[in-house]
Amino acid sequence: MPLIIGIPRETFPGEKRVASVPDVVEKLIKLGFEVKLESNAGAEANFFDDAYTAVGAKIASTAADLWSGSDIVFKVRAPSVDEVKLMKEGQTLISFIWPAQNPELMQQLAAKKVTVLAIDSLPRQLSRAQKMDALTSMAGIVGYRAVVEAANNFGRFFNGQITAAGKIPPAKVFIAGAGVAGLAAIGTAVGLGAIVRANDTRPEVADQVKSMGAEFVKVDYEEEGSGGGGYAKVMSEGFQAAQRDMYAQQAKDVDIIITTALIPGKPAPKLITADMVKSMKPGSVIVDLAAEQGGNCELTEPGQVVVKHGVTIVGYTDFPSRLAKQSSTLYATNLFRLTEELCKTKDGNVDVNMEDDAIRGLTVIKNGEITWPPPALKLPAPPAAKPAAAVKAPEKKSAHGGSSEPMPLKNLAIVFGVGALMFWLVGSYAPANFLSHFTVFVLACFVGYMVVWNVTPALHTPLMSVTNAISSIIAIGALVQISPPLAEGVDRPNFWIGVLAFIGIALTAVNMFGGFAVTRRMLAMFRK
Ligand code: NAI
Repeated sequence: MPLIIGIPRETFPGEKRVASVPDVVEKLIKLGFEVKLESNAGAEANFFDDAYTAVGAKIASTAADLWSGSDIVFKVRAPSVDEVKLMKEGQTLISFIWPAQNPELMQQLAAKKVTVLAIDSLPRQLSRAQKMDALTSMAGIVGYRAVVEAANNFGRFFNGQITAAGKIPPAKVFIAGAGVAGLAAIGTAVGLGAIVRANDTRPEVADQVKSMGAEFVKVDYEEEGSGGGGYAKVMSEGFQAAQRDMYAQQAKDVDIIITTALIPGKPAPKLITADMVKSMKPGSVIVDLAAEQGGNCELTEPGQVVVKHGVTIVGYTDFPSRLAKQSSTLYATNLFRLTEELCKTKDGNVDVNMEDDAIRGLTVIKNGEITWPPPALKLPAPPAAKPAAAVKAPEKKSAHGGSSEPMPLKNLAIVFGVGALMFWLVGSYAPANFLSHFTVFVLACFVGYMVVWNVTPALHTPLMSVTNAISSIIAIGALVQISPPLAEGVDRPNFWIGVLAFIGIALTAVNMFGGFAVTRRMLAMFRK
């Protein structure tokens, strides 16, 4: 018997998203499930009942009918107390739950003897989990919308313009926290033509910020900011003081600040003080994406837009709902990918396999038993730091990272011995003509090796250096073969040697010019 997936209307005030959209419902039905929706469940996201029935879904007129007639319930927000009451034993719920923040809800759900998959608890570090990562999908939307809200509240253009009426400078945007939402905000603000700067406590983010077209502003204090699993940690007092100094300078200079800084399980770090707000130019805008977790700005009022000291502070907590159609579509796809993982048999039944790392991570209650938090993931261990005493003087590395420690004498003798033997064998049997060419070839390899291996790979990889060198050698060799005789009495090259040389030049040219073309296309991806 295929299971019935139920999709209720979201009851949280202001929530406009829906857990599945018609295109995805069609795919769920193809996977063998029956799908039932509460009437008008998608209306706020512009998905109406007739679009769902057209792809084969059924409509339940009330929430009670929907919950009682479903085996699996797909939701966006964690269920309310009233919704938990509608649940029945053996049912499966898939939605945001935030188990660490909602221990009471967890107890109520466990008492109902249900199975709960919290999409927010997905182990995001697993590359296999990325297609189900609703946190990332939603953060991308939030970052984009933050810039749109900033632009809406800002009295100027984002891009600089020179018009007959005067020169308009570009807006300056500072992004605090460059995780998924921060990077999406950078991309959107750069796209609108603003000058964008960003800061984060995790140093690995700097390159990502630069690749998005923004400038990474460093805090003048050395401290590792990664707290594991790709997340941040609470920084030391010293770092926080240095960071406040830098933020205070930025606040005076920029027009818009978008804050996205979060630390899992902790209140949002306070990065923008009241004094910094006071120092901003009148008409500036702050969009605080951390408002729901207490805000990154001291003056943020969650859920509100307020004007303090002439600065508009946007503290909305419903950014994904402000792009409900887009966020519902992405969320629906994330849940569909999860359903595929749960229903490998494609027969409309699910198997909550606790041996699967991804499924184990997000299963927070299994048949009424709380299974959260999950055991630590077995990820490949990071390379262990060497104890100080064991650290030797730095090994001399060649330009390509290979160790240039001298080869032991014994091995060197063997290499030379084998080489000499081979030369002797070749010399005894090959024609004299061949021997002279062969000697030149061996010397050329040696000289080429020495030259290529010592080039600093500043703008290219070792592989590129080697292939470029090989291409050059082939091109020069072929050109020598194909070129007209330089001296009187020297024969023109044999016809077939000429043909082979020509083919060699043609193929090398494809390799060289192809390399330039590919590099150009890759660079174009990062240009506006
Ligand atoms: P988040 O929403 O928890 O935090 C947002 C950002 O704020 C983070 O970049 C964090 O470093 C930064 N932050 C925290 N405290 C700060 C402070 N005091 N000052 C300045 N910045 C501060 O993080 P999010 O966006 O959910 O993801 C964090 C990272 O995890 C991202 O870089 C993302 O690429 C990575 N990630 C990795 C995945 C994977 O390995 N497959 C999947 C999803 C995310």
